[in-house]
Amino acid sequence: MDRTFIICKPDAVERGLVGEIISRFERRNLSVVAAELRTIDRATAEQHYGEHSDKPFFGELVDFITRGPAMLAVIEGPEDTWKVVRTMMGATNPRDAAPGTIRGDLGILFTENLIHGSDGPEAAQREIALFFPGL
Ligand code: RTP
Ligand code: MG
Repeated sequence: MDRTFIICKPDAVERGLVGEIISRFERRNLSVVAAELRTIDRATAEQHYGEHSDKPFFGELVDFITRGPAMLAVIEGPEDTWKVVRTMMGATNPRDAAPGTIRGDLGILFTENLIHGSDGPEAAQREIALFFPGL
C-alpha cells in the first residue's frame, strides 16, 4: 500500500468541512491510517513549506496555516496515492479548480484553499515523518 500526507487547513476546520473532505477520500476507497487535530507551530510550518521561503506570500502562508487547529492525516491507497489525492484537491487557486474537486466545489480564496497534499512520493515520505514521526 502507498501513503500520502494531507492537511485540512484551518479554514476547513473553521468552516466545519473536515468531515466533507475526509468522506470524499473514504468514498474513493482510500483509508485514513492516522489523523490528528493540531495547531501547527511556526517552526514546523516553516520547515513544511520550506520550498516557498523565498516567495512573497511565505509570511502570509505561515500565518494562515498556524492560525488555528488543522486536521493532519495520512491517507493510504493501492498506489500513487499522492497523485489521486492531488487530482481530487484541484488546482492551487480555487478559482481555477474544476467542479468536482475539493477546492473547485468548496473554495474561492487563494491562500485559504482548504487542503494541502504532498506533491510527490518523496514529499509524502518527508511530510509523514515530519508530522507523524512515530508512524
Ligand atoms: P499545498 O502545498 O498547500 O498543497 O498547495 P499546492 O501544492 O497546490 O501549491 P503550492 O505551490 O505548494 O503553494 C503552497 C500554498 O501557498 C499558497 N500560495 N499563495 N499568493 C500566491 O501567489 C500563492 N501561491 C501559493 C497557497 O495557499 C498554496 O496552497
Ligand atoms: Mg505544495
